[in-house]
Amino acid sequence: MHGLFITLEGGEGAGKTTQCRKIKEFFESTGYEVVLTREPGGTPEAEKIRNLLVQRDGGNWTPTAECLLFFAARQMHVETLIKPAIAAGKVVISDRFTDSTIAYQGYGHGFDLDTIRQVEQIALAGFKPDLTFLLDLPVEDGLRRSLKQKDIAVGDESTEDRFEKLDKSFHEKLRQGFLTIARESPVRVKVIDASIDPDNVFAQIKIHLQEKMEKVGRNVI
Ligand SMILES: Nc1ncnc2c1ncn2[C@@H]1O[C@H](COP(=O)(O)OP(=O)(O)OP(=O)(O)O)[C@@H](O)[C@H]1O
Ligand SMILES: [Mg+2]
Repeated sequence: MHGLFITLEGGEGAGKTTQCRKIKEFFESTGYEVVLTREPGGTPEAEKIRNLLVQRDGGNWTPTAECLLFFAARQMHVETLIKPAIAAGKVVISDRFTDSTIAYQGYGHGFDLDTIRQVEQIALAGFKPDLTFLLDLPVEDGLRRSLKQKDIAVGDESTEDRFEKLDKSFHEKLRQGFLTIARESPVRVKVIDASIDPDNVFAQIKIHLQEKMEKVGRNVI
C-alpha cells in the first residue's frame, strides 16, 4: 500500500519542527512507520548542498545558481529517500519543501516565479506532497519565538534592535507569499492558525490528517 507525503511550511519560529514531531507521534501511535526529514537536506548529498546554501562561508551564489542548488538537493531527496519510503508504505514528513523555495527565493527575494516553476518541473516532474500544512502567524510572533529560542530575553532594548535587523518587511512578504501559495492550491495546502498553543495547533492539523486517511481508505484513531 502506498504511503503518504506530508510537508510543513511557514516562516521562522512558526512551529514547524514542533508540529513535525507531533505528526510523527500521531502516525506512530496508530502503527504507521514514519520517516521524518527536512530541507534543504535530508540525504547525505543534499546535506552537502545544504551547507553550501546555509553556511556563512558556503558561497556567494547568483539567484539562478541558488535555485538550481535547492532543486538539485531536492531531486536527490525525492528520488533516494522520499519516493522509496512512500513506495514502502511509510508516512514521510518533511520540515519544508518546494513551497519554501517559492516563498523565500520567489516572493521574499523577488526571483522570477516562472523560472522556479520551470526548474521544479525539470527536477521533480510534477511530484508534490499529498498534504501541506502552512503554519501561519503574525510576523512579530514568529520572530519573537525565534529570538526566544536563541535565548535572547524578549522586551529589552537589545532585543528590539535585533528585531528590527531581522527585516520585518521581508518576513511580511514571505508570509503573504505562503498565503498566496495556499490560495492557489487549496486542496493540497491547509492554512493552520499557528499563533495558539502547540496542542491546539496540532488539533487543527489532526482534523485534516483524519480526513485524508479516510479518503485513502485507512483508519486512523
Ligand atoms: N504553538 C506555539 N506556541 C508557542 N511557542 C511555540 C509554539 N510552537 C513552537 N513554539 C516554540 O517556538 C520556538 C520555535 O518553534 P519551532 O522550532 O517548532 O519552529 P520552526 O518553525 O521549526 O522554526 P525554524 O524555522 O527556526 O526552524 C520553539 O522554542 C518552540 O518551543
Ligand atoms: Mg525548525
